[in-house]
Amino acid sequence: TGMFTYDPGFTSTASCKSKITFIDGDEGILLHRGYPIDQLAEHSTFMEVAYLLLRGELPTKEQYEQFTYTVTRHTMVHEQLAMFYRGFRRDAHPMAVMCGVMGALSAFYHDSTDINDPHQRMVASFRMIAKIPTIAAMAYKYTIGQPFVYPDNSLSYTGNFLRMMFSVPAEPYVVDPVIERALDRIFILHADHEQNASTSTVRLASSSGANPFACIAAGIACLWGPAHGGANEAALKMLHEIGTVERIPEYIARAKDKNDPFRLMGFGHRVYKNYDPRAKVMQKTAHEVLAHLGIKDPIFDVAHELERIALHDDYFVEKKLYPNVDFYSGIILSAIGFPTSMFTVLFALARTVGWIAQWDEMLQDPDQKIGRPRQLYIGAPYRDYTSIDQRR
Ligand code: CMC
Repeated sequence: TGMFTYDPGFTSTASCKSKITFIDGDEGILLHRGYPIDQLAEHSTFMEVAYLLLRGELPTKEQYEQFTYTVTRHTMVHEQLAMFYRGFRRDAHPMAVMCGVMGALSAFYHDSTDINDPHQRMVASFRMIAKIPTIAAMAYKYTIGQPFVYPDNSLSYTGNFLRMMFSVPAEPYVVDPVIERALDRIFILHADHEQNASTSTVRLASSSGANPFACIAAGIACLWGPAHGGANEAALKMLHEIGTVERIPEYIARAKDKNDPFRLMGFGHRVYKNYDPRAKVMQKTAHEVLAHLGIKDPIFDVAHELERIALHDDYFVEKKLYPNVDFYSGIILSAIGFPTSMFTVLFALARTVGWIAQWDEMLQDPDQKIGRPRQLYIGAPYRDYTSIDQRR
């Protein structure tokens, strides 16, 4: 049955042509529209990177102002959507709520269904990028029983998100610029990563011409898994479970044991066979944030030591397993005050920009077709139906 290439996990299939993101996994290089991720993380802002990913070039001052102004005009959500939240249990995982609420937006914006109209595509893009911080913060507020906080368009994209997350009506709230910058950088680091599982999901879902909000909801669903975006939550849980530097060898041994399903979360990558360039920036940012907040987190020491031991261990060296973007992010996020259940939500918030850039690119691609893989059938051959009283 050699009619099709058998390629589980698509390890050797290029599903599309793209001009957005370049990765050299052997060298540990990540470029967005040609610009290296470490330069973007150091000098750019998340809104500027969003513009770059969507439009292909860094914006001029005027373009940047126009872009951020348009994003802020779309930050509010329909009041009906607040009722939608109330249908969920308070203890629902925020990623479950995010899948539902993003999907539900498709019912609010039927005009976005016209994806062949570039103007409608642009409006849908602005809506999603602007509203995802609002719906993410609402998911959090709902679980802790606090009132939803309306967006404040005088703040930056990230400052506004921090305020919607952590402020309460009874008290004044001032955005800490160091935290704002650190979180903005985390968003930059997560903005896009070419044809990863969730981005491929968005492309596949939209290849049928589906509503964009529904397609992004599909991306959120895929991102949730622990092998993908869920790894940031799993990595911090693992570091807490290890707890002390003395227990690291036990966990390293488990990770190496073929009969133990345990893996070091935040380690390894399908494409990077070298240090993930995002993990380097993340580690530096973790130092900065902990120093700024005056936090001495023993888990940070566990992470450092785990990294040091793993990078010298034959198993990890041979398999080229290095820390990935999710290894240090949880330490920063929990220092800022995010509960672990929100980590993957923050990843989804940032990756929405990449998903939309890829979606928009795909819809303009003349080679675009419905995504429809084939299979190697290994089931029963032809046989005739038997009536129930003849079966044994
Ligand atoms: N700990 C221990 N062993 C590992 C790990 C790990 N974290 N990752 C891979 N291996 C081993 C694996 O057991 C396999 O060994 P063998 O060849 O003897 O069977 C080999 O390395 C190759 O692994 P694979 O699962 O075939 O590789 P993959 O490309 O299919 O998987 C991965 C990539 C990211 C799913 C995997 O490395 C993993 O599960 N890592 C932990 C979860 C994680 O941190 N995910 C975040 C990825 S980066 C950001 C994102 O996408 O969200």
